[in-house]
Amino acid sequence: MDFENEALRQKAVIAGLRERFDKEYEKTGRKKTYCCVTFGCQMNARDSEKLSGILEDIGYERVEDEDADFIIYNTCTVRENANQRVYGRLGALKKLKEKRPGMLIALCGCMMQEPQVVEKLRKSYRHVDIIFGTHNIYKLAELIHDRLESGSMIIDLWKDTDKIVEDLPNRRKYPFKSGINIMFGCNNFCSYCIVPYVRGRERSRRPEDIIEEIRADVADGVVEVMLLGQNVNSYGKNLDTPMSFAQLLTEIEKIDGLERIRFMTSHPKDLSDELIEVMSRSKKICRHLHLPLQSGSSRILKQMNRKYTKEDYLLLVDKIKAACPDISLTTDIIVGFPGETEEDFKETLDVVEKVRYDSAYTFIYSKRTGTPAASMTDQIPEDVVKDRFDRLLSMVQEISADVCARHTGQVMDVLVEQINNQDNHLVTGRLSNNTVVHFPGDPSLIGRIVPVYLKECKGFYYIGEAQSIGEEVNG
Ligand code: SAH
Ligand code: SF4
Ligand code: F3S
Repeated sequence: MDFENEALRQKAVIAGLRERFDKEYEKTGRKKTYCCVTFGCQMNARDSEKLSGILEDIGYERVEDEDADFIIYNTCTVRENANQRVYGRLGALKKLKEKRPGMLIALCGCMMQEPQVVEKLRKSYRHVDIIFGTHNIYKLAELIHDRLESGSMIIDLWKDTDKIVEDLPNRRKYPFKSGINIMFGCNNFCSYCIVPYVRGRERSRRPEDIIEEIRADVADGVVEVMLLGQNVNSYGKNLDTPMSFAQLLTEIEKIDGLERIRFMTSHPKDLSDELIEVMSRSKKICRHLHLPLQSGSSRILKQMNRKYTKEDYLLLVDKIKAACPDISLTTDIIVGFPGETEEDFKETLDVVEKVRYDSAYTFIYSKRTGTPAASMTDQIPEDVVKDRFDRLLSMVQEISADVCARHTGQVMDVLVEQINNQDNHLVTGRLSNNTVVHFPGDPSLIGRIVPVYLKECKGFYYIGEAQSIGEEVNG
C-alpha cells in the first residue's frame, strides 16, 4: 500500500461523509454527536485525539456523555480489570442503543488486537458496529463509510504494520500542551507484558516529522510537549539515518516558543550517559524522570526479561541524581509476579527506600494470555499479593509525602492547566517536576507559566501563591 497517499485517500473519504452529514443536517437541523472514551495510557489518549479529529472533520460534535450518535471506546488490555470495565460498559450501551436508532458503536485499541476478545464480541456483543485495532486507526472514516454502506458489523484488524501514516486530522485536548508520538510499538517483550503483542514492533517516526508537528503545535499555542513511546531511550535505532533519543531532544530543545519538554517511558536498560548529560544541561527538559523498576529483585527482573539488575538500577539512579540533583523520580512496580518470594519482595521495598520516589504506580500482577509469564508455574496466591501490595503502598505514600514537600518555601514556575475542580477561586498547574500546585487565580492564567510561592505541601500537592516577578518572598 502507498502510505504517502493513504492520508489523501482518507481525506477524500472524510470529505464524502462530511457532504452526506451536511445534507442530513440541512434536513434535520441537528448535528450528529460523538463520545470518545479512552482507557489506558497516554499513547491511547493521543490516539483518541486523532480519532476525535477524524470524527469532527466528518461533522460529528463532541459530547461527554454516552447518549450520542457515535460512541467509540479506545480500549486497553494491559491488565485484566481494564478489559472487564469495557465489557461492563458495553452491556449498558445495548439498552441505550435500543432507544436510539441509528446509533453506532465502535471499539478500537489494544484489547481489539487479541483474537479471543474479538471472537467474544462477535458472538455475544452483536450491537457493536465497528471493530478495529491499533495499527489502522487512521482508517476510521473509511470504516464508518463501509458500515453505513453495508449495514453489517465491520471488523478490520491488522496483526502488525511497519508503516506510519502522517498528516491526518487531529484535535488536541489542551490548547497549551500536547502529546507527540515519537515511536510506536515495543520490542522488549517483558515476560508479563502484552503491549508488544498488541502494539506491534518498534517503529520510530522520522525526526523531521516530529519537529514539524511540534513546530505547528507551538505556533498554535503549545508550550509543553510530552514525547511518547514505550521505550523512548531506544528511539531512532532503526531509522534510515539512525539518531539517538538524546540527539532528538537536543533538536527539539531548539524550537523557539517551546518551554517544557517531557517524555515517557524510559526503560532503565537503555538510558544512556548521553541522555543524562543532555538533561543536566537543558533549560527545557522537565525535572522529572519516570523510570519503571517493576521489581527490586535481580532474580525476578531476570524472569521478567527486564535486562538489568537491582544494582544496575540503583547505580543508574545515583548517576541521574548526581547530574540533576533536583530531579523527581517516579516509577511503576508490579507485585506478585510468578515465583516472587517474601525475600524478593523485600528487595523491592529496599529499592523504594533507597531511591525515594516522588510517586510510584503500584500494580498487582495480572496474567495476560499469550505472554511467557502466564504459563509460569508458581503463580502467587491472592492473599499474599494483597498483603505485599498494601505494605508497598504504605511505604510509597509515606516516602512520597516527605519527598514532595522538599520545595516548600521556594518560588517555582507552574504551568497553569485548569480551574481547580473543587474551588473555582483556585487554579491548578504543575511544576517542572510534575508536582501539582493549587493557588488563587483566574482563567486568564490557563496555559501560562507563572512563578508561584509554594506555601504548604499537602502530601502529594502544594498550596501556593502567585508571585509577580521580582517580589520578595518571606519564609
Ligand atoms: N513501556 C513501559 C510500560 C507500559 S505498561 C515500560 O516498560 O516501562 C505500564 C505499566 O503497567 C508497566 O510499567 C507495568 O508496571 C504495568 N504492567 C504491565 N503489564 C502488567 C501485568 N501483566 N500485570 C500488572 N502490571 C502490568
Ligand atoms: Fe511492556 Fe516491557 Fe515493552 Fe514496557 S518495555 S511496553 S513493560 S514489554
Ligand atoms: Fe493499555 Fe495499550 Fe497503553 S494495553 S497501557 S493502552 S499501550
